[in-house]
Amino acid sequence: MPMRERLWVALDVETLKDAEGLLERLAGLPERIGAKIGSQLFTAAGPAAVETVLKRGFSVFLDLKFHDIPNTVAGAVREATRAGVTMLNVHAAGGTAMMRAAAEAATKAATDFGVARPICIGVTVLTSLDRKGLAEIGVTGNVEAHVLRLADLAREAGLDGCVASPQEIGLLRRALGPKWLIVTPGIRMEAAAVGGAGGLGEDQVRIATPSAAIRAGADAIVVGRPITAAPDPHAAAAAILREIAR
Ligand code: C5P
Repeated sequence: MPMRERLWVALDVETLKDAEGLLERLAGLPERIGAKIGSQLFTAAGPAAVETVLKRGFSVFLDLKFHDIPNTVAGAVREATRAGVTMLNVHAAGGTAMMRAAAEAATKAATDFGVARPICIGVTVLTSLDRKGLAEIGVTGNVEAHVLRLADLAREAGLDGCVASPQEIGLLRRALGPKWLIVTPGIRMEAAAVGGAGGLGEDQVRIATPSAAIRAGADAIVVGRPITAAPDPHAAAAAILREIAR
């Protein structure tokens, strides 16, 4: 299943009003983009956040990283499908049975509610975890090997793709082939990406520019602060779209 939206803007804001302000400024871009609703906005505003984004003509990536017993995750995926999200994610560490339950729930709910089946992707290893952090929770060996292992399981379980940091794109693309969807956060514009005076998001360690991520094999990118904290979010998003179109 190819993905139409190549740019997802992370709505990491405190209130629905803040999100609406951003969406207003992002209206009228030359191609359809999506908005990513994560735990912050969803916890603050609930399903109204999804409705609001859809009403304004953007697709929704529901980034709640479900991780629970299969029956509960299936229920959550069913509700996300009913709400009309285009993409959602689950933690691959939840295991094969959980991921399979998610994929199957998406298919069944789409039929039941007469909506498109959402793209279901897996989160492999959080980019905030390094080798030491993984060892602490009992996973020994290198991070890349664990990422690959989880992505492989995700595919076997019927998921459509995974989230991948810029450094993991090539590895995953080679191992999982052209149809596997790869969605990449950690995007910074040129100056910031080369360590210049970007001034944004210095908590992101593994970063790439939009074009470098797409060139490396990402299907879509997730961009937060380079757009949402820009003086002109519309211009920032338009510049990113132009860059990835080239
Ligand atoms: O502001 P910035 O561009 O860093 O935002 C990136 C977005 O992508 C945030 O919503 C963050 O939660 C999300 N994300 C990430 N790294 C991951 C997975 C998701 O930065 N590995």
